[in-house]
Amino acid sequence: MAKRRRQPWLLNTSRVRLLRVNRSFARGTPAGALVLDAGAGHGPYRRLFRHARYEAADFAQLATRYTPLDYVCSLTDIPVEDGRFDRVLCNQVLEHLDDPAGALAEMHRVLAPGGRILLSAPLFYPEHQQPYDYFRYTQFALRRLFTEAGFAEVKVTWLEGYFGTVAFQLEQMHRQLPRGRSLGLRRRMLLGPVLAVTRGAAFVLSGVFARMDLRWKHTASGMPKNYVVRATRPEG
Ligand SMILES: C[S@@+](CC[C@H](N)C(=O)[O-])C[C@H]1O[C@@H](n2cnc3c(N)ncnc32)[C@H](O)[C@@H]1O
Repeated sequence: MAKRRRQPWLLNTSRVRLLRVNRSFARGTPAGALVLDAGAGHGPYRRLFRHARYEAADFAQLATRYTPLDYVCSLTDIPVEDGRFDRVLCNQVLEHLDDPAGALAEMHRVLAPGGRILLSAPLFYPEHQQPYDYFRYTQFALRRLFTEAGFAEVKVTWLEGYFGTVAFQLEQMHRQLPRGRSLGLRRRMLLGPVLAVTRGAAFVLSGVFARMDLRWKHTASGMPKNYVVRATRPEG
């Protein structure tokens, strides 16, 4: 009998949902279409586009593993002709760009008229990939940036529900609340038990909220961790 894989208690619901939205974008991509993964990193969505022709661009400045790159470049200057791609995907990159408007104008340029773009970007996430971390985006900033770059049919939605954001905040509390020597003796005596109980409760509740988020995407209050933008380059 096949062994059941153990699920870790702490779940990153953003990863689950990013895979879902990218899979759905890939399913709407015709066979043989030319796709650009802008800021591809290690290329987590490459395999979803096996039916298409996938190309990857990244500036490759971080000490990390990159998927084979077709273009090592800044997203403000992609070395291809106008309208080359039928689809552009750009996940978790916009916050790292010092010139997001310039990069969106460039993605608009390389997308064929009638082509579609899928982009995800965080609203609520700690600084990462320093020093290349510049912005967080509200839905209004995203709509404005996309519209000003020339995109049409701009739809901005929540990636996770609020429970996913809560699960993430609880996970951060579990990991980041100070412990041990960093507190100093006096504070450790006074605050140590409170912090230890809070860390433990945050661990358990994070798993509970993550599972709730995957079953029920609550968007009526709170905020998402990430937004997703779907847009098209108008014909003509
Ligand atoms: C958080 S990673 C996301 C990678 C991938 N899209 C994913 O979803 O896993 C951000 C990526 O943006 C790239 N990047 C940052 N600034 C860039 C720039 N100005 N031009 C091109 N790529 C850039 C980084 O090298 C990194 O691979």
